[in-house]
Amino acid sequence: MVKSNPPPVYRVEFQPGAKKCLLAINSSLLDAAQQAGIPLASGCGGVGTCGQCRVIIIEGNVSDPSENEKEILSAGELDRGIRLACQARIQGDVAVRVPVSSLITGQRLQTESDVKITKGDPPVRTVAVHLPKPGREDSRSDLSRLAAGLTGVDQEKIHAGLPGIRQLSTMAREYNWNFTTLLHGNEIIGILPPGAKHAGMAIDLGTTKIAAGLYDLSSGEQLAAGGELNPQIAYGEDIISRMAYVIQHPGGDKTLSHSVREVLDTLLGDLTAQEGISRDQVAEICVVGNTAMIHLFLELPVRPLATSPFAASILSAMDVKAQDAGLTAAPGAYVHILPGIGGFVGADHVAMVLASHLDHSPHISLGIDIGTNTEIFLTHKERNFFQSVSCASGPAFEGVHISCGMRAAPGAIESVKLSSLDPVIKTIDNVPAVGVCGSGLIDITAELLRLHVIDHRGRFDRDHDLVRKGNKEFEFLLVPADLSGTKRDLVITQEDINQIQLAKGAVRAGLDIILESAGIEPTAVKEVIIAGAFGTFLNIQNAVRTGLLPVFPNAIFRQVGNAALAGAAQSLVSKQFRKRARKIAEKTHHLELTTYPDFSLRFAYGMLFPGDES
Ligand code: FES
Repeated sequence: MVKSNPPPVYRVEFQPGAKKCLLAINSSLLDAAQQAGIPLASGCGGVGTCGQCRVIIIEGNVSDPSENEKEILSAGELDRGIRLACQARIQGDVAVRVPVSSLITGQRLQTESDVKITKGDPPVRTVAVHLPKPGREDSRSDLSRLAAGLTGVDQEKIHAGLPGIRQLSTMAREYNWNFTTLLHGNEIIGILPPGAKHAGMAIDLGTTKIAAGLYDLSSGEQLAAGGELNPQIAYGEDIISRMAYVIQHPGGDKTLSHSVREVLDTLLGDLTAQEGISRDQVAEICVVGNTAMIHLFLELPVRPLATSPFAASILSAMDVKAQDAGLTAAPGAYVHILPGIGGFVGADHVAMVLASHLDHSPHISLGIDIGTNTEIFLTHKERNFFQSVSCASGPAFEGVHISCGMRAAPGAIESVKLSSLDPVIKTIDNVPAVGVCGSGLIDITAELLRLHVIDHRGRFDRDHDLVRKGNKEFEFLLVPADLSGTKRDLVITQEDINQIQLAKGAVRAGLDIILESAGIEPTAVKEVIIAGAFGTFLNIQNAVRTGLLPVFPNAIFRQVGNAALAGAAQSLVSKQFRKRARKIAEKTHHLELTTYPDFSLRFAYGMLFPGDES
């Protein structure tokens, strides 16, 4: 048998930073970036449709531009060596420059909310003990000795797992039999030095962003907070592409689960270090996320969830050992997952309802969490009912599929006012604009409507003074190259407007359908809660002007920030809240949008912009 030679391997160097890696011929530059640890944006998961992974070839050989590249990049960009990293394949040693606008760093990651965490009855409690030392007359096991020394417990039922027992035997002697025991029900989950505080970590595992907080389990006080981008973005921007990745790649479930667990564990390490406590002091973790995120975190099969009738493996609340979920905390610590409702409406939505107290609302109230996946909750006190829907709004409000779109990071245009002179724009951190994030996109759209640059179908008025013919289509110049941080024009194109219409059409269809199915007019709604990072910076007036939100003439709007994280934190410190979460999940009727009569028509209607009368 003839032995074939291994494929040639080439060197890829990324600038700035001179990060290098070796890869086999025909590997993509996106593979190389992932190997080199370059956080390159890749919204479509490498399919070649989002245009986010732009890099510049400094020197070396790569494959000829693919059809997707010719479609997305202009001839001028290709001439300047700009390529899509996911499409360009290595043909020799190559040096590449990564523009800042292609990186997924420095994101604005929301960990705040206006919800106050109230102290409750935590699932983990501490008991201080001072035990007699073992001796000739007393050779009880360490576990029996501790069980006998615990007060206010059923000693017969006290137990511990192997890691807890190991820690007990070591720490008891180290602290001369004077220590604090961490108890989860009747289980000993850890041993702490006398007087050490015990903490918990709440995690909002979003499709795009992860937010986490460390809390004192006795007082409910937040000790530290932080966030990261969900590393699974490298495998697809939305939940559908990520589940497709898992289905198509053997071992993909492990890859995605491992990637997110690693980031969560690092966050746990960072937050405990910030507060100056040890990982052993983290006695409980509460995670919320949509159904797909929870499946991908716990490595549950996603095929049934990805195809009709979209059945989840589990929707009820769960407790899994932290160490089984790849998190290093107290030896026997648990990760509590709040229950989900149905379809993709998961634990994060329940947490949002919980923290916003929508389940106790005395009015007809709506809760909306706009993201890559948007969830909407409707409650009607008099009829004693809760209803929810989930809309596949897609990542356009994260800047994906928008020619100059980007996530909320330094340099992103977050608000815009167009006057007769120049646009008045505000960027995050007040640095030169490098792109537009979600709230900026809503503002621009509202302004273009106000000035009749686009009509209610979203079409550019080609004769308008503010409209010009671009390389491929008509466009509006927002920031000229000489003023932008990227040194290229930042424009809003006809295709961008279409993408915004698709995203807002999905949200609007969800809102219209949830109200119509319940027979409720917008005039009857008294309160609208807007949750999530995008919602926090959303200009409500402009959201209504674009038709993203209907007119709610009698409603009070509350932008509550990251209520999902607050709900997770509240469940961390209170069993009562966990009970309420279960009730919310059981009582909420999940309406499957795609099976609603005339859904496609509602969606098409939702894409339209309001006429002048609005
Ligand atoms: S175009 Fe390359 S990752 Fe989307």
